[in-house]
Amino acid sequence: MADKIRWGIVGPGHIAHSFAKDLKLVGDGELTAVASRSLDRANEFADEYNAEHRFGSYQELFESNVVDVLYIATPHTSHCDLTIEALHHGKAVLCEKPMGINADQVKLMIAAAKKNGIFLMEALWSRFNPSIVKVNELIAEGKIGDVAYLNANFGFYGLDRDEDGRLLNPDLAGGSLLDIGIYPIFLAYLILGKPDNIEAVSLFHKTGVEVQTAMIFEYPNAQATLASGLRSNMQMRAEIAGSKGSAFLQDRWHETQGYSLEIEGNMENFDLPTKGKGYSHEIEEVHDCLRKGKLQSEKWSLQNSLDLVNLLDEVRSITGTTFPFED
Ligand SMILES: NC(=O)c1ccc[n+]([C@@H]2O[C@H](COP(=O)([O-])OP(=O)(O)OC[C@H]3O[C@@H](n4cnc5c(N)ncnc54)[C@H](OP(=O)(O)O)[C@@H]3O)[C@@H](O)[C@H]2O)c1
Repeated sequence: MADKIRWGIVGPGHIAHSFAKDLKLVGDGELTAVASRSLDRANEFADEYNAEHRFGSYQELFESNVVDVLYIATPHTSHCDLTIEALHHGKAVLCEKPMGINADQVKLMIAAAKKNGIFLMEALWSRFNPSIVKVNELIAEGKIGDVAYLNANFGFYGLDRDEDGRLLNPDLAGGSLLDIGIYPIFLAYLILGKPDNIEAVSLFHKTGVEVQTAMIFEYPNAQATLASGLRSNMQMRAEIAGSKGSAFLQDRWHETQGYSLEIEGNMENFDLPTKGKGYSHEIEEVHDCLRKGKLQSEKWSLQNSLDLVNLLDEVRSITGTTFPFED
């Protein structure tokens, strides 16, 4: 592998900008190529981030030899097909969340990675947030005792968005759950594992997409109350309460810059800033895996992605949330 790991971006939209900015902060990587459905858009993005190669179709980038790894940053519905195509062309893939729309898609993606012997990881960036990593370690060490309760939400007002855009459009697997509900579900899964039972209810929009979901994850000795929504700006401090104390991830917890611990009535705050916005940490994990020849991350494995999408599927089946293309 060359001194610098060569990245290509597939779908230079909203999140791709944040990613490209953070990639500049990771010394041993560089953006070498950008692919868009429009060559003009690829050129514009590539000029902004000094990427040498630009393509007016995703396929041309897949067939090129100018990258080591691709970042798939398109709407959810295209993750599966694009990732499989990239893997078949021998390109390692970091795929935006949710890895696939449902477990069937994620299984196909994992099978393609295994068949081709190529690295694949879901871009679940919060898994690599320094405060979340630290709080997870402290809880595992018993710092707050036995976890009894977890509360995490993710909500913002999004009903004013374009109804054809990916948030409100059922054909693009819109709704709050797959876009942002995935984060509180991830936190419950990280700290408490797979629940024994799930309760959930959803509100729906006139376009047919689910726009607010409240969930209870039940464990033998704990409960997690989770919510996602596009109907209001929710409070986004996460709380994990145990028999000896509590841990708090500061607002907005999924990209937090610090955490707090309350043990026996004493509250202590800890700053633990991200490098850049925080995408740098998942990029560093990909680099570490690629340099060591690993085919998946041990910190966010393919099984973790499959477990997560299974939880999303289960919530959707309880709330009756379906997409037109799944009928
Ligand atoms: N990790 C995070 O913090 C985070 C934050 C936001 C979003 N995301 C994830 O990243 C993915 C992309 O989100 P985004 O907000 O960046 O989306 P976006 O800006 O709406 O779309 C990204 C790009 O995808 C391409 N694209 C391909 N097929 C498309 C289609 N049918 N409709 C619209 N665009 C299409 C477009 O680029 P070209 O046409 O130029 O090829 C577009 O600019 C989502 O899966 C989302 O869950 C992650």
